[in-house]
Amino acid sequence: MKIAILTVSDKGAAGEREDLSGAVIAEEIADIGGEIIARDILPDERDQLSEKLKYYADELGVELVLTTGGTGFSPRDWTPEATLDIADRQAPGLAEAMRQESLKITSRAMLSRAVAAIRGCTLIVNLPGSPKAVRENLQTIKPALPHAIDILTGAGGECAVPETHGHNDKK
Ligand code: MTE
Repeated sequence: MKIAILTVSDKGAAGEREDLSGAVIAEEIADIGGEIIARDILPDERDQLSEKLKYYADELGVELVLTTGGTGFSPRDWTPEATLDIADRQAPGLAEAMRQESLKITSRAMLSRAVAAIRGCTLIVNLPGSPKAVRENLQTIKPALPHAIDILTGAGGECAVPETHGHNDKK
């Protein structure tokens, strides 16, 4: 499984803040197998984010993209919209599970607008920005991720052939 990690942070992208959350993602998913082939930090710019997600999916053929940050209510939080801009299908169960479990820890979990979505053969999951939130949310969805990717990329299915990714070419 090829994995990409995208940290969304104006300060991180400007080199003013260390990317602790990206590191937590890498640490948390070490035991699900797979290789992190891309790890980037981008500012909270909707178009830049959606272009990078498209690149991971279409050019790198990444099966799993985990983003962190930009899911809240701040005027510059656009990660969910950037994800949906290039998505073919939503995977709401993952985001529902994250919020449901997180609400047992903090009522502020309801302030994350994170989405999970599919582009072609790539699953994209938004995580909130703090290292604590990343760890808690990943612990919730991690057990389901290998099966999710198996179904999405099932051998013999159209995802087995890179040229026929099946995403919406209009996007
Ligand atoms: N989810 C969990 N599990 N733990 C947390 O500490 N923080 C919340 C929420 N989800 C949190 C959480 C807070 S305070 C916010 S504002 C939102 O995620 C959005 O975070 P973001 O804007 O950094 O993406």
